[in-house]
Amino acid sequence: MTDGVLEGTASTGSTAGTDGWSQSVFDADDQWWRSAVIYQLYVRSFADGNGDGIGDLAGVRTRLQYLADLGVDAIWFTPWYLSPLADGGYDVADYRAIDPAFGSLGEAERLIAEAREFGIRTIVDIVPNHVSDQHAWFQAALASAPGSPERARFWFHPGRGKDGNEMPNGWVSNFSGPAWTRTQNPDGTPGEWYLHLFSAHQPDLNWSHPDVRAEHEAVLRFWLDRGVAGVRIDSAMLLMKDPALPEIPAAPGPGEHPNTDRDELHDVYRRWRVLADSYSDSRILVGEIWLPDIDRFTNYLRPDELHTAFNFDFLARPWDAASLRDSIDSTLAAHAPVGAPATWVLSNHDVTRPVTRYGQADSSFAFATRRAGVPSNIELGRKRARAAALLAAALPGSLYIYQGEELGLEEVQDLPLDQLQDPMYLRSGGTDPGRDGCRVPLPWAGTSSPFGFSPAGAVGDPWLPQPNRWAELTVEAQQRNPHSMLSLYRTMLRIRRSDPDLGDGHLQWLPSADDVLAFARGESFICITNFSRVPIELPSGCLLLLASADASDGFLRSDASAWLRPERSPTYDGTLQGPTEGGE
Ligand code: GLC
Ligand code: CA
Repeated sequence: MTDGVLEGTASTGSTAGTDGWSQSVFDADDQWWRSAVIYQLYVRSFADGNGDGIGDLAGVRTRLQYLADLGVDAIWFTPWYLSPLADGGYDVADYRAIDPAFGSLGEAERLIAEAREFGIRTIVDIVPNHVSDQHAWFQAALASAPGSPERARFWFHPGRGKDGNEMPNGWVSNFSGPAWTRTQNPDGTPGEWYLHLFSAHQPDLNWSHPDVRAEHEAVLRFWLDRGVAGVRIDSAMLLMKDPALPEIPAAPGPGEHPNTDRDELHDVYRRWRVLADSYSDSRILVGEIWLPDIDRFTNYLRPDELHTAFNFDFLARPWDAASLRDSIDSTLAAHAPVGAPATWVLSNHDVTRPVTRYGQADSSFAFATRRAGVPSNIELGRKRARAAALLAAALPGSLYIYQGEELGLEEVQDLPLDQLQDPMYLRSGGTDPGRDGCRVPLPWAGTSSPFGFSPAGAVGDPWLPQPNRWAELTVEAQQRNPHSMLSLYRTMLRIRRSDPDLGDGHLQWLPSADDVLAFARGESFICITNFSRVPIELPSGCLLLLASADASDGFLRSDASAWLRPERSPTYDGTLQGPTEGGE
């Protein structure tokens, strides 16, 4: 077992609560989140305990040992609440209930407690921008008249034009298509329109309404009282809208966009921070914030707002030394003044898996340019994904790992079209491949589907079909192979955990060729990534700790990373020669 992970197996029956939590094993380290490795667990696709083909909490509870062995500090659970699953659970019908497909509230409480016994914290996903159209508030709003208090919690609006046939404005949904849907009056005549920045099943809440604020603060307390260590805030930059609902300007200046990154939003998070800080141990707020302007982004990380936010800039960059170095530099420079640690994210449940992305001719990521059927060199992509893992894990700050990334799973691009469920695919008319390809149930063991995802004798097939080729990528197969992606991740996280120079702190670039990134963390750790087409000689006088490709001959292959320890440590004076091209 690695440091900080308690020996032992999961106990059953203990219920997490404020009492148990305040005595928790974590109390000593209130800065844990500055260096944490956080595993994103997409419940539906992680492990199926009851054999219906859908991942669930019972499945997670049997796999906590796996996560402890991997070496993660926390699990972020994507939404597990009651939901019609019109958007994979990001359409919440009741924030205080677990969807019966996943389990029960009691089971969630037990899971939080059991994870804690493995030394793993729990983070839940809070979805404040919108609710499910099945949520009691929206159902009440539909049943009430225009202008009623029930409707005031949402964005109901009369249409424009003759008979109100035109949408109140021209806003477009993030899932393509219009951001407005028209309602029907009880007598069957067309009624008001309501706003949804995502699918029509996800009506936006009106964050100027006191009920909306009070309800979400109560929901936060509900989960923090159950012992969760923090919350991931979905679509955190979208909550506030300009009540005049103007059209979106061609080039909105800072704070001028009518539905994104509005200045009033900071007050919401300042209140949440006071709430989180009212707990005696550290409870963290993590924002999902997609913003091109990095200074607007880090505004959310001022000391009295969110603790951290996902650094999507890094994830969006192509496999290119100059571009990634630029992202690293601008990220660290923007975080420094607010004192927040950076986060490093290679993937999540919304984006193309890195193995596939890094094997594509254009290896950058943007929702807007995503098209179905883009070819990928998976072998090349996997090599680069291994190198990217070592690069990201060596950078200052905290690290996110999306389930299956540690197995090197690729995006499944050939799912049968009639099984796709993602509204992003459905609403784009099929031009956008959607996000189902990165949400395929994990392969655990065996040589054929369900690959141990569901127990023997399961009645349901996995909710998305797993490719046969994943027989080579099961946890079982990779555990046996010291060169597998899983073995790389385990060793990487073990070293990261035991090395005080890794995680939060500073980085020092070392001299290198343009298509090589080399930096030191402290005096006794160096990370080198070779983006060039030729092997480069590793610097002498260093111990090779770990490499993403064989480097035993002293050369770092193309598209590979190595972690090194200067042997003269601790007297190493920082003047170590940078790597030079091989054969010189
Ligand atoms: C976030 C989630 C995504 C979801 C959207 C709407 O971007 O990560 O999965 O579809 O919000 O809730
Ligand atoms: Ca199940």
